[in-house]
Amino acid sequence: MTQPTDKKRTTRRRFLAGAAGLAAAGASSARADNAKNLPPNVADWTRQLGEGVGVRAYGNPSKYEKHVIRRTVPWLTATPESSVSFTPLHQLDGIITPNGLCFERHHGGIAEIDPNDYRLMLHGLVEKPLIFALDELKRLPRVNKIHFLECAANSGMEWRGAQLNGCQYTHGMVHCVQYTGVTLKVLLEQAGLKPNAKWIMAEGGDAAAMNRSIPLGKALDDCIVAYRMNGEMLRPEQGYPVRLVVPGWEGNVWVKWLRRLKVGDQPWFTREETSKYTDLLENGKARQFTFLMDAKSVITSPSPQAPVKQKGFNVISGLAWSGRGKIKRVDISLDGGRNWRAARIDGPVFDKACVRFYYELDWNGEELLLQSRAMDDTGYVQPGKDALRKIRGVNSIYHNNGIQTWALKADGEVENVEVG
Ligand code: MTE
Ligand code: CO
Repeated sequence: MTQPTDKKRTTRRRFLAGAAGLAAAGASSARADNAKNLPPNVADWTRQLGEGVGVRAYGNPSKYEKHVIRRTVPWLTATPESSVSFTPLHQLDGIITPNGLCFERHHGGIAEIDPNDYRLMLHGLVEKPLIFALDELKRLPRVNKIHFLECAANSGMEWRGAQLNGCQYTHGMVHCVQYTGVTLKVLLEQAGLKPNAKWIMAEGGDAAAMNRSIPLGKALDDCIVAYRMNGEMLRPEQGYPVRLVVPGWEGNVWVKWLRRLKVGDQPWFTREETSKYTDLLENGKARQFTFLMDAKSVITSPSPQAPVKQKGFNVISGLAWSGRGKIKRVDISLDGGRNWRAARIDGPVFDKACVRFYYELDWNGEELLLQSRAMDDTGYVQPGKDALRKIRGVNSIYHNNGIQTWALKADGEVENVEVG
């Protein structure tokens, strides 16, 4: 076993001393403690038997965690059927998003599909058109992959400046789960591709019949026709019983309630790739088929919905992800980007998946401008917002991966701001 360096050891010792200090301070702080449950007393929950097994046939989080929920911004969309709810990133840790907290984005509401009546049709430029029932998909070779899904419109409100006060709203259109399914490659090989096959179109069975064109290269590379998330069957809002997983690419192409895959020799120019999901530039031209989600990161805590409660030792925590590959490094700035220091990545680092980073901070109460900056294994570095606007202008909604700034105030409150 390697010994920690002296410096590290001192830091750890100081940290632990600080934490003990916090606990002592906490006892006299504004926390709503009930003294009869605190040491050295025997707490209420030790004086009686607990609830038996079987009462919670499908478990829910503790009743004390009721505030940890997806939230909506009512004024953002005209109807709840074509709308979005946001992942509470500031209340989560690690890299896996719990199924019930994954943000939702639907264009025509949640389709309710009876798995017995579910079919996936594969046709177009194939030797043998096929129709798969759910059981048939489950009999094919299986893969498990952890990937992030980010809506192209994540942070879309922030192009013209700081708007929404909470990382749930500025960055909460991302989630990261483990998918189980069959690769799209296996399905396409079963059908046999015609020589002129170049694109596939994926279409949903929802009321929006949402459809997108995907180049064949990507389809054969790493796409998955998935039926499970985090071990259990997909949630209805995530596309039950089957969705397309398109690692690293904008969420819109991850077609839910997948009904049909058509092989063609050119893109279909559907609504979602012409009037929507294109990037309008300053000169009036629009970039099209900008599938890739570039490297991005955000400090999830502290953040406007998760203020700092105490001076002294605190953990700065955040998420980073890149559609190009693996996250290599995350840097933290406390002074709005003038100085950077490496954050500590903790936990697994998967391809096109979220990573968790930490930075332990001994906060003396001074005002800080907190930023994080991700770098991936292609060498791509997350840009500042102004650098991004130089290339993209401010007409865009989509693909805003600029560096986020949180202003930490002396009272511990945090605000969404922008620096030069
Ligand atoms: N698939 C269908 N059939 N219908 C939809 O409305 N929305 C897309 C995509 N797939 C959509 C869809 C968009 S814009 C995104 S960002 C993701 O699904 C959201 O996936 P989630 O709801 O699992 O977060
Ligand atoms: Co989307």
